[in-house]
Amino acid sequence: MEQQGSVSGIAVTCSPRSSSMDNGLVGKSSLAGRGADDLAHLLDYVKDGRGLDFNGYQPDALSRRLALRLAALNLPDYQAYRHYLTENDQEIDALIDALSLKVSRFFRNPFVFEALAAFLLPRLIAAAGSEPIRVWCAGCATGEEPYSLAILFRELLAHHPAAPPLFILATDIDEQAFQAARAALYPEEAMIEVKKGLLDRYFSLERGRYRLADEIKKMVTFARHDVTAPIPPAIGVFSGYHLILCRNIQIYFNRHIQRRTMATLSGCLLKGGALILGEAETPPEDLPGPRLVEMLPRSKIFIKED
Ligand SMILES: C[S@@+](CC[C@H](N)C(=O)[O-])C[C@H]1O[C@@H](n2cnc3c(N)ncnc32)[C@H](O)[C@@H]1O
Repeated sequence: MEQQGSVSGIAVTCSPRSSSMDNGLVGKSSLAGRGADDLAHLLDYVKDGRGLDFNGYQPDALSRRLALRLAALNLPDYQAYRHYLTENDQEIDALIDALSLKVSRFFRNPFVFEALAAFLLPRLIAAAGSEPIRVWCAGCATGEEPYSLAILFRELLAHHPAAPPLFILATDIDEQAFQAARAALYPEEAMIEVKKGLLDRYFSLERGRYRLADEIKKMVTFARHDVTAPIPPAIGVFSGYHLILCRNIQIYFNRHIQRRTMATLSGCLLKGGALILGEAETPPEDLPGPRLVEMLPRSKIFIKED
């Protein structure tokens, strides 16, 4: 599959360039420590049942999260848990929920959003003309991140004489996260970075929780997609994205999956478009194709070179 387009009129391909990197998937042997085979069998169970492959995740992080699940069910080991899984259909959702950490908040790492508002989004809006601006937020958790973007765009486009259409796709592997995202009712902890003016304009307080305004909810499309898959989301556009956020997910993947994921994301990005990563994340140096150059030091906003 190839996707064509550009930020400033230069044609680009949005192809899953990672096909040559699909070898060397992490196998059972790389899951170190006691019960490694049992853990690998559990991960295979999830993969067969739901098509989600957690084999490329950091084993220590997986073990820690599974330990919590075992403790909650009072089960002694992975083998007993595997048995429990086969007997209780609904447990697979709880397992996926446990394996995927969903901590997020609005305007997380505010510097990124300030840089977006000051430099990047005005440039994207100007370059777009009447063409739609396409944004993909991968690993969107319970919606705080794509909704933050939607709020930024709403603010910037409010007084724009000819606002371009906007498509914000938010994807995750976790169905339960979407339910929360669609409900859009957030606890105080999710709101600590939201400025007072925005809080007043776009949220209403309901029994100690913050409800997001419908006008912002409507701006985001949610879909299930595994970001480690070497293809873009099926629901998305076929002409590449101007902006892709994939923050605080890569840290859970091993290097092979990180590299493959980053290659796919970069392949889906228009030239001149931006990939935004989490504070502790960086693109691999040997990524094929055009370079990703950090816009400002430590901003974690990487522009795809022409
Ligand atoms: C720690 S949260 C980060 C949320 C948000 N990006 C942020 O930085 O605030 C990580 C999210 O990535 C999702 N995730 C984990 N593995 C994924 C995968 N393979 N594909 C898509 N989403 C994934 C989890 O379900 C979770 O919602």
